[in-house]
Amino acid sequence: MKRLEGKSALITGSARGIGRAFAEAYVREGARVAIADINLARARETAAEIGPSAYAVEMDVTQQGSIDAAIASVVTEAGGLDILVNNAALFDLAPIVEITRESYERLFSINVSGTLFTMQAAARQMIAQGRGGKIINMASQAGRRGEALVAVYCATKAAVISLTQSAGLDLIKHRINVNAIAPGVVDGEHWDGVDALFARYENRPRGEKKRLVGAEVPYGRMGTAEDLTGMAIFLASAESDYVVSQTYNVDGGNWMS
Ligand SMILES: NC(=O)c1ccc[n+]([C@@H]2O[C@H](COP(=O)([O-])OP(=O)(O)OC[C@H]3O[C@@H](n4cnc5c(N)ncnc54)[C@H](O)[C@@H]3O)[C@@H](O)[C@H]2O)c1
Repeated sequence: MKRLEGKSALITGSARGIGRAFAEAYVREGARVAIADINLARARETAAEIGPSAYAVEMDVTQQGSIDAAIASVVTEAGGLDILVNNAALFDLAPIVEITRESYERLFSINVSGTLFTMQAAARQMIAQGRGGKIINMASQAGRRGEALVAVYCATKAAVISLTQSAGLDLIKHRINVNAIAPGVVDGEHWDGVDALFARYENRPRGEKKRLVGAEVPYGRMGTAEDLTGMAIFLASAESDYVVSQTYNVDGGNWMS
């Protein structure tokens, strides 16, 4: 039996990468999925490739009006909202003495405020519907500890873990489960950009950082977006009804907590 039959899902930042893989997995499990992304052209392409159960929604998680409009269009399109994945995020890297306010504010605005206020808008809709819901926030192993060059991104992901804990405790009385996934290193366009930044700051040839981080994973390689879909389906399904405020590491054994 399909585990998300008849459910309506919204996944932020799902035009590519991990969010896209989640959208494909949710559609396979019977859900209708909004491919909500700041890049509308790419979201449309992705939705068309996934098929009729996916549709594109323009959404900038840093803008309250855009968050509200995206939730409203999901309600119009799919008759309600059952599952939110807060997946959109930005990465940056710099030594402490070079971090700019602009980078700090941009990362916190997308990764933290975007997560909180999208979660809030989704929760309001789910409470009004009165049939519970599932909210999944994308954290990271970076939120579990500091990294010398990654202070701001690590702090944003620690905040996502903390918000997940508090929101999960507050919303479970409405039968809304809030949990998070903490991936390790997942290959794709995102990590191509991360690799390029490390190449610059650690003076390495392109591709070397990816090779090194992959070799360090106990499983023996970097993750793929598909490696995360099992946890994403579980946390969106009735199988996780008694799971509250947790952050699950899906990282090939990189981190234990
Ligand atoms: N790739 C990894 O190794 C890794 C590891 C740990 C955690 N994560 C987390 O997983 C999530 C997905 O990562 P990914 O690798 O697929 O990233 P990605 O960079 O490939 O995709 C991010 C998507 O978010 C969209 N986006 C950017 N700003 C937005 C905004 N303001 N509003 C709406 N959409 C916006 C982008 O257009 C893009 O489609 C992120 O939260 C990331 O921090 C990734």
